[in-house]
Amino acid sequence: MTTPLLSIDNLTKRFGGVTAVSGINLEVAPKETIAIIGPNGAGKTTFYNMVSGRMMPTEGRITLDGTDITGLAPHKISRMGVSRSFQINNIFPEMTVRENVEVVLTAYHRHSRRLFNIAARNTAVQKEAMVYLERLGIDGLYNQLAQVISYGDKRLLEIAMVLATQPKLVLLDEPTAGMTPDETRRTTRLIKHLASGGEYTFLVTEHDMGVVFDLADRILVMHRGEKLFAGTPEEVKHHPEVRSAYLGEEEDEAVEEASP
Ligand SMILES: Nc1ncnc2c1ncn2[C@@H]1O[C@H](COP(=O)(O)OP(=O)(O)OP(=O)(O)O)[C@@H](O)[C@H]1O
Ligand SMILES: [Mg+2]
Repeated sequence: MTTPLLSIDNLTKRFGGVTAVSGINLEVAPKETIAIIGPNGAGKTTFYNMVSGRMMPTEGRITLDGTDITGLAPHKISRMGVSRSFQINNIFPEMTVRENVEVVLTAYHRHSRRLFNIAARNTAVQKEAMVYLERLGIDGLYNQLAQVISYGDKRLLEIAMVLATQPKLVLLDEPTAGMTPDETRRTTRLIKHLASGGEYTFLVTEHDMGVVFDLADRILVMHRGEKLFAGTPEEVKHHPEVRSAYLGEEEDEAVEEASP
């Protein structure tokens, strides 16, 4: 592997007697898309919380681009290029879709502040905001108030806001949760397109196996806090322990998909 963008070494989180994440090792190459799967309570969100700095690991080390970021505050980790999809309530409902992205751009980009002329600066920020909205296919909604757009479009706006921070590593926790099948397909296609552009590195958790197999270069399978297996989607589909422990009733589907 080339120098990893993210190295996770023996990452562990205990809550009293519960070991939510147990001795996880993982290396993520730049521009890779890694999916983290596992049943409810497997430790996926806790894993994210440690990578993004919201929770202090009990043990282990997290290295980003060669720098130890273990236990740093969330805003420091975010400044270093790890961006996590915000919850929808972080969207400002009474601002327009474009203004929501502008807020992020203004907070993160010092370069635009260098423009002396305020009108020129505003125009530059507006133009840049449109670029991110176009990437998520919601540029047509730019002038709508964020509160009136659909649930699926709000989640896409959330991803546009994440990308506007120009992250090295994007953490998406169940990006298609609560979406209609159509919205899920559209979102999967968009994330796949963004991933194939070679600009972003994604860590994605998902319960929808169709989305996972479609998106991921590699999959980390967690079970009760531990790494059950890590491999390509094909390897995961055919791994007996993963199939019995996790895929369960989806086994037949996996077999069908794998046959010519
Ligand atoms: N703040 C906390 N305090 C105590 N226990 C916690 C805390 N957060 C998580 N846990 C426990 O850690 C384990 C892992 O939870 P986590 O939320 O990481 O799982 P998950 O894989 O994200 O599940 P889901 O698929 O339901 O989102 C669970 O047993 C959970 O009850
Ligand atoms: Mg979770």
